[in-house]
Amino acid sequence: SRVIKLAVIPGDGIGPEVVAEAEKVLDAVTRDSGVTFEKTRFSLGAARYLETGDTLTDDDLAAIASHDVILLGAVGGVPGDPRLKDANIERGLLLKLRFALDHYVNLRPSRLYPGAPGPLADPGEIDFVVVREGTEGPYVGNGGSIRTGTPHEVANETSVNTAYGIERVVRYAFAQAEKRRKKLTLVHKTNVLVHAGGMWKRIVDAVASEHPDVTVDYAHVDAATIYLVTNPGRFDVIVTDNLFGDILTDLAGAVTGGIGLAASGNINPDGVFPSMFEPVHGSAPDIAGTQQADPTAAIGSIALMLDHLGLADEARRVTRAIEADIAARDGSARTTAQTGDAIARALPAATPAA
Ligand code: NAD
Ligand code: IPM
Ligand code: MN
Repeated sequence: SRVIKLAVIPGDGIGPEVVAEAEKVLDAVTRDSGVTFEKTRFSLGAARYLETGDTLTDDDLAAIASHDVILLGAVGGVPGDPRLKDANIERGLLLKLRFALDHYVNLRPSRLYPGAPGPLADPGEIDFVVVREGTEGPYVGNGGSIRTGTPHEVANETSVNTAYGIERVVRYAFAQAEKRRKKLTLVHKTNVLVHAGGMWKRIVDAVASEHPDVTVDYAHVDAATIYLVTNPGRFDVIVTDNLFGDILTDLAGAVTGGIGLAASGNINPDGVFPSMFEPVHGSAPDIAGTQQADPTAAIGSIALMLDHLGLADEARRVTRAIEADIAARDGSARTTAQTGDAIARALPAATPAA
């Protein structure tokens, strides 16, 4: 039978709580299938830093990279913790993994599940996917400050955009659009960020000429936040820069029933490095340890992971179970584990092999 090596990084805050439920569902869906997940757990995050002073060592990175795929909960310590003053877990761990493993596609689907309690009065159908660039933009850490901490400080954070980096993620986004409703929206801020925005626009237009059946449009990022609230049904595939994609996908999570439902994949489509699946949300220190976190986003990330691994039937069963559970929720409080149990119980039977 097929053996898949899975690196599990539960992380901080609610990370371990939601990862436990994701693993529960993964174990249940693979119980009598021909595939085995061989798991290695990595203790990384603020807790590890406080214990050892390490964020992500070269050995950690090499060990993680030797796996087929990665599941991550969330990382980030309690805000204001003085012991974390010199740490940057987000850059030193999460972004280091995304960059080192060349996760140039940050895939963030948004669907309003039937019965999900979204905040919009009349949302219509919402079903789009944000293809967020994952290795460039203002995230690269290209910057610095001088006269730091003085009234004369100057701080720069330079956005790095390469033609190579944009073209590959744009091509991926067009391929998604071809499989979906054949509509692609570039979101940027070309009216102000003329250099990077201009290049994004030119590359999208060039690749569009190879996809005459895909309708292409454009929205400035500020206007895109309006449409995400007033008419989210207009979106099918959104392709955008790293920072815009980060912001838009928290908003997208909110309009589709809450950040506790939003799943994501950090994907290296070339398969050179393992891809990493994680909820869009963070470590939520405000509710950590209370079993109030919704593990659906982490479980949805399992569905994305299974799809990525070519386990389409298992992925479909997890998605069906999430849909069934959401439709059955009545708004009464449940613990993280109760939601995980409910989704595991809702898994439909495997499709018999033909
Ligand atoms: P957050 O996503 O952790 O929390 C924002 C709000 O959403 C909070 O009110 C939280 O209670 C709520 N929330 C988040 N996940 C939820 C869930 N599953 N169920 C119910 N409610 C949920 O964002 P933040 O507070 O800005 O960040 C906290 C820490 O997490 C920071 O250190 C940040 O850098 C880090 N972070 C990490 C990741 C990641 O590991 N991928 C992502 C985002 C933020
Ligand atoms: C996310 C997070 C990360 C990001 C942070 C924690 C580095 O907000 O996964 O959305 O900005 O990408
Ligand atoms: Mn984010």
